[in-house]
Amino acid sequence: MAGTFVTFEGIDGCGKTTQLELLCAALAERGIRAVRLREPGGTAISEKIRALLLDPANMEMRPQAELLLYEASRAQLVTQVIKPALEVGAVVVCDRFFDSTFAYQSGARGLEEDIIRMANELGSCGCTPDATVVFDLDPTVAWERATHNGADRLEAEGLAFQERVRAGYHRAAELEPERLRMIDAAGTREEVFSRLVEALSDVLPQLEGLDVAAFVARQADVERAMADIAQGLGEGA
Ligand code: TMP
Repeated sequence: MAGTFVTFEGIDGCGKTTQLELLCAALAERGIRAVRLREPGGTAISEKIRALLLDPANMEMRPQAELLLYEASRAQLVTQVIKPALEVGAVVVCDRFFDSTFAYQSGARGLEEDIIRMANELGSCGCTPDATVVFDLDPTVAWERATHNGADRLEAEGLAFQERVRAGYHRAAELEPERLRMIDAAGTREEVFSRLVEALSDVLPQLEGLDVAAFVARQADVERAMADIAQGLGEGA
């Protein structure tokens, strides 16, 4: 396909969403408007499935039902948004994709790897990322960040569950070392962003020569200005 498909992976609270925002801002500076998505979600139907999946009231959900709901959300997103975007040459950046299913539903929930592979093939409708970045972080460090706004259904499974998810990602990266690029997610956001840009240099040559320190500093200024504007709007209301 004409476009570029990049996915971000990692345990809950690993910081990938902040890095995804930085990546999209860096691409925008270079005139590339990336299609930014998240899984589960990204279409009206997929967002409804997301609400069902993350609702802490649904603790009785069985692993098989959970697997199929993630795949249903994915099939809708791939066919309705991802494939059409790639066909017209867009850069698509998705926060989680089928490697999450491998790490969470196999690594952590214990479903068989072969079943996950078949389900992923169906759910992704044959769409595979060009590159996947796995943000690797100790779950005890990520925990505070993941749950400070309250835990969703998956986060409510606790720290041991996140350890198994992390092991699942390590296994996935061993199986497909070329597509899955594991980076250390510890450190400042500038340090992690620098590792991210390096990890994606082959699939996103548009970022070649980016001065990461200067870009992250510019971005911090923009965020401060936006926060001031939002506060001003709040006070005016
Ligand atoms: P998040 O968008 O806040 O990361 O929440 C999504 C949650 O769903 C997260 O805990 C990971 C989990 N998940 C799976 O268990 N399997 C999947 O296939 C996907 C995409 C997410």
